[in-house]
Amino acid sequence: MPLLANHIAVITGAGSGIGRAIALGFAREGARVIALDVNADGAAETAKLVSDSGGTACSFPLDVTDRAACVAMAKRIADAIGPVSILVNNAGIARRNGMTGAADAVVKDWEDVIAINLTGVFNVTHAFLGSLRANKGRIVNIGSIQSFVHIRQPSSPAYTASKHGVLGFTKALAVELGKEGVRVNAIGPGFIETPLNAATRASNPDGVRLFIEHTPLGRAGQPEDIVGPAIFLASDLSAYVTGSIVMADGGYRAV
Ligand SMILES: NC(=O)c1ccc[n+]([C@@H]2O[C@H](COP(=O)([O-])OP(=O)(O)OC[C@H]3O[C@@H](n4cnc5c(N)ncnc54)[C@H](O)[C@@H]3O)[C@@H](O)[C@H]2O)c1
Repeated sequence: MPLLANHIAVITGAGSGIGRAIALGFAREGARVIALDVNADGAAETAKLVSDSGGTACSFPLDVTDRAACVAMAKRIADAIGPVSILVNNAGIARRNGMTGAADAVVKDWEDVIAINLTGVFNVTHAFLGSLRANKGRIVNIGSIQSFVHIRQPSSPAYTASKHGVLGFTKALAVELGKEGVRVNAIGPGFIETPLNAATRASNPDGVRLFIEHTPLGRAGQPEDIVGPAIFLASDLSAYVTGSIVMADGGYRAV
C-alpha cells in the first residue's frame, strides 16, 4: 500500500521548486494533493503535472499572508474535497538586504519575509487546525539551515529570524497537540537549486562555491532531495517523531 494512501495533503507554495516536488512525491505515494500558491498558474501547472503522472490533485490560488482567505480556503476544501490530514507549510521567500542596507529595503524585507515565512505558517496552520486535529494530522514545516545559524553572505536577518521562528512554532505545536496524536515536524533544506535562489546563483557564483565547499556531500541539492524527508514525516514511517527537524542539507551543519 502506498505510504500516503487515504490522505488529503495541502501544500502551500506548491507552484514551484520544493513545494512542487513534494506535491509530485506525495501523489506518487497515493495522497490526494491540493496545491496552493499565490501564483495560481504555478499551482495549476503542478496539479496538471500530478494528474499527467497518474496522481490526483487540484489547485487553488492562496496568499498565505491573507488570514481570512486561509480560513475561507480551509472551509472550501472541507466542503468540496474532504478532511485534510497533512499540511506542508512550504510557501516562502528569501530577500537578502542586510541590516545596514538601504533603510527602505531592509524594512520591506522584514515585513514581507516575516509575513510570508512566519505569519503565513501560522495563518494556514490555524485555518486547517480543526481538520488536522480531527484526523490525527501531520504538519511539515519547511525550515532551513537558518533555523539554527545565520548565513553571512548575503545577509538576511529577516530570513534567519523567520526560519528560527518556524522551528520554534514547530516545537510549540508539537508539544501542544501531541496528546491528540497530531505530529508536527520540520525539514531543514540546505542549498537547493530552485527559482528562490536563481538570482543569487547568477550574481554570486563565489558565494555558491564557498557554500558547496562547506557541504560534505559536495553538491547543491535538488527539490527531489526534500521529497523523501517530507514523505517520511507525513507518513506512519515517522509515527514516533514529533517536534523534530530533519536536516536535508548535504551535511552542512555537521561542519
Ligand atoms: N531553495 C533553497 O535553497 C531553500 C533552502 C532552505 C529553505 N527553503 C525554503 O523552502 C521553501 C520553498 O522554497 P523554494 O526554494 O522551493 O522556492 P520557490 O521560489 O521555488 O517556491 C516558493 C513558492 O512559494 C510561493 N509563495 C511566495 N509567497 C507566497 C504567498 N504569500 N502565499 C503563497 N505562496 C507564496 C511562490 O509563488 C513559489 O511558488 C521556502 O519556505 C524556502 O524558504 C529553500
